[in-house]
Amino acid sequence: MMEKFVIKGGTTLSGRVNVSGSKNSSLPIMAATLLTKETCVIRRVPDVSDTNYMIQILQNLGAEVERASGTVIVRCEKVSDTAPYELVRKMRASICVMGPLMARLGHTVVSLPGGCVIGDRPVDLHLRGMEALGAVVKVEKGNMHISAPNGLHGTTIDMMGKHGTTVLGTDNVMMAAALAEGTTIIENAAGEPEVEDLADFLNKMGAKITGAGTNTITVEGVKELGGVEHTVIPDRIEAGTFLVAGAIAGNGVTLRRVRKDHLKSVIQVLEASGYHLTSTGSDLTIKSNGSATACDILTEPYPGFPTDMQAQFCALFSTTPGSQSLVTEQIFPQRFMHIAELKRMGADIDLVDDTARIRGVEQLSAAPVMASDLRASAALVLAALRAEGETEINRVYHIDRGYEHIDEKLMDLGADIRRLPA
Ligand code: UD1
Repeated sequence: MMEKFVIKGGTTLSGRVNVSGSKNSSLPIMAATLLTKETCVIRRVPDVSDTNYMIQILQNLGAEVERASGTVIVRCEKVSDTAPYELVRKMRASICVMGPLMARLGHTVVSLPGGCVIGDRPVDLHLRGMEALGAVVKVEKGNMHISAPNGLHGTTIDMMGKHGTTVLGTDNVMMAAALAEGTTIIENAAGEPEVEDLADFLNKMGAKITGAGTNTITVEGVKELGGVEHTVIPDRIEAGTFLVAGAIAGNGVTLRRVRKDHLKSVIQVLEASGYHLTSTGSDLTIKSNGSATACDILTEPYPGFPTDMQAQFCALFSTTPGSQSLVTEQIFPQRFMHIAELKRMGADIDLVDDTARIRGVEQLSAAPVMASDLRASAALVLAALRAEGETEINRVYHIDRGYEHIDEKLMDLGADIRRLPA
């Protein structure tokens, strides 16, 4: 059923909100269960549609999966080698079954994921990694046929691409190399916390991986991996989104269960913009000191400012009166679907190539808008919290892909938000 959000702007948010487990950690970790015949237990998997897609993909590949209140239990005694287009096209991240299937079976057929609204999303680096490990790749009828007739062998692989490092590409090589013969060194590896979380999971399974979280990862191949239990890290992008909610419409919003060390660049930008952040234990509180300004942002690989937070800050800076800022997107230069929708709400933004020039306005006004992708949709929700009148956001299934019960969490903080049939 198609649903929409109706948000009445102008309420003040306050109180506490629990941060969910990381979607982007959960997806590759769930895929990693394909590496063993034994049972894996994964805790704090967020109840979002992307993790549901991953469960469907695992089941389609032959896994038995149980899910109850955040815990996903997977057992892959037998595994088939084909990830078909019907499943892969629904979620680009399904590409991360490639590495584990190559490690477990030595051959796989993965459908090419195709583009998405945030731009052309190539897979050349994933394939470069598989080939370096000894695989042969053929693309036929939209499918990648990958096989390693002589097995996978450790080597040194440089994963640098033209837009920087690759998160899921690094994950795929790490998972394939975990069961390869010999040692693999991944240079220019992605250093995102989600890569580190996956490495922790793999090491608990019996892998020998060091350096994850830095730009050089060493994987010493082992013969076999076993079942494990693991709790995924808190979602730093969901946390960042609620920090912006606190900045845009809050008077003291506290996030619970955050990893502050994963949010350094986001906190830095909020502080530079005049917000006051304090933390105790795993709680993080944001307050406004009444004199917000905007600043310039450049998206970069971790620990730089994340592309997954770019849209939300465009919403914040659009509603920061008297300020001007430049937001430059270096990771996905076309990731600006939210700009046209924000302008429908009265935002003053010019887009030139990969840079949005934003002039903050006194007041946004409600308008019917369309969610286009996950983070762009979150930006519209945030803008609506500050707009005058009732904003209707259509196609909220985009938001439900990656935010666990965002409407309920915002309601608990005092937002006037309703989910209705569209
Ligand atoms: C992951 C995240 C996504 C985030 C992105 C960048 C998951 C499930 N998704 O996506 O939320 O926005 O990291 O932090 O974790 N590239 C190539 N060739 C490749 C692969 C990527 O050129 O083979 C390019 C991409 O087009 C992009 C850049 O590299 O410009 C980074 O993309 P990448 O890190 O691979 O994104 P994902 O891992 O797909």
